Amino acid sequence: MNLKAPEYVQGHGLIKGKSVLITAAAGAGIGFSAATRAAEEGARAIVLSDIHVGRLEAAVAKLREETGLQQVYAKVGNVAVEEDVQALVDFAEAETDGVDILINNAGLGTSKLLIEMEDDEWNRVIDVTLNGTMRMTRYMMKIMKARGQGGVIVNNASVLGWRAQQEQAHYAAAKAGVMALTRCAAMEAAEFNVRINAVSPSIVLHPMLRKSASEELLAELESKEAYGRAAEAWEVANVMMFLASDYSSYMTGEIVSCSSQRS
Ligand SMILES: NC(=O)c1ccc[n+]([C@@H]2O[C@H](COP(=O)([O-])OP(=O)(O)OC[C@H]3O[C@@H](n4cnc5c(N)ncnc54)[C@H](O)[C@@H]3O)[C@@H](O)[C@H]2O)c1
Repeated sequence: MNLKAPEYVQGHGLIKGKSVLITAAAGAGIGFSAATRAAEEGARAIVLSDIHVGRLEAAVAKLREETGLQQVYAKVGNVAVEEDVQALVDFAEAETDGVDILINNAGLGTSKLLIEMEDDEWNRVIDVTLNGTMRMTRYMMKIMKARGQGGVIVNNASVLGWRAQQEQAHYAAAKAGVMALTRCAAMEAAEFNVRINAVSPSIVLHPMLRKSASEELLAELESKEAYGRAAEAWEVANVMMFLASDYSSYMTGEIVSCSSQRS
């Protein structure tokens, strides 16, 4: 079967008037798509962050041009560095007059058999993917709690947090950690009206990912999907917008699969 993606779904003002902060937003995948969708869904201001300076500047220009939203701000930062995380959230708070929605998109993967894995590689993947999400969530929660106006955090997990795949022990462990973090942090944040949920995508193909994995593996992963194809980045971004919006007001601590394969 090959169930094709529908026509691009037009925005419906799901997050009208909200301000949004997105990490790892300057790549070719889900982060930038989420920024585009956020603008199309009525966000009043968007802060894009990424570790890559050049790509970030280009992403800001592209987002402004493609969506017409001018309140787009850039802040370079590495989610693996606590000072960067605090500087990023403080910057976003100041520029947008308060962040309503944080999208923790940053995550890093490599492919390595466990018996060949050095501690450095294991730790790097865990540090960006799990600890980075924790650092952003922890600091944003503090700020949202102090502000007292609630908020929403959407994390990006992966079906590998549930599924087994060779050469992915580090990444899968990190994403399982993101799921557990989401559930537990949500129980703490409910007290001050902050919802925290995660999307769990299966596979989104884009040029950067194609460079990092073999054609055979990517084709095999696509063929395992009931739809016979990878998701479009914007199909994952749509789920993020649902989780960021009041349409999911009675959901917190949930991990929502965006996949056409049962885990
Ligand atoms: N692409 C997929 O098939 C897929 C599947 C499941 C989950 N995910 C998850 O989705 C998220 C986005 O992945 P994507 O593949 O769509 O790419 P993306 O384009 O959304 O993100 C890539 C960007 O991340 C930035 N980045 C890398 N390390 C960073 C760091 N330490 N701090 C800040 N920015 C950093 C890069 O510079 C790059 O611009 C990741 O968390 C990934 O694990 C992706």
